[in-house]
Amino acid sequence: MIKTIYILNGPNLNLLGTREPDIYGAATLDDIKSACANACKAAGYNMAFHQSNIEGEIVEQIQEAGRKGAAVLINAAAYTHTSAAIYDALKTLDIPIIEVHISQPASRETFRQNSFIAPVATGSISGFGTNSYLLAIHAAIDSLK
Ligand code: DQA
Repeated sequence: MIKTIYILNGPNLNLLGTREPDIYGAATLDDIKSACANACKAAGYNMAFHQSNIEGEIVEQIQEAGRKGAAVLINAAAYTHTSAAIYDALKTLDIPIIEVHISQPASRETFRQNSFIAPVATGSISGFGTNSYLLAIHAAIDSLK
């Protein structure tokens, strides 16, 4: 059976392309989705790609990834810095978890320097623009080997 990589995206990432392009670049979330779909397909994996502005929906998507996924990439966006619920949901998984950020939160405002994702992630990839997602797909696949 072909394995599925879940790619979960948090609040305001639906606005990529027009949201602070000096920080996040010009690519839209659809552009990222297409690039990720190609990368997953080339490596022989299925992809499930979701975005939500609602914390509880992201928790449900994490639970689904735990039931059906081989690995999960998560850009929890601002919930990275606030969400104990997402931390708790990720903590229940026993598949690779890759934290993804387009920007480098550690070099930005102080409130971005805490991550609720990092302590439960297999690893984190930040600061490479939308290429962070593709690097994270490779990292997830490597950790499945
Ligand atoms: C982000 C970084 C977060 O601090 C921010 O709240 C986002 C996007 C990133 O991909 O760089 O919304 O996760």
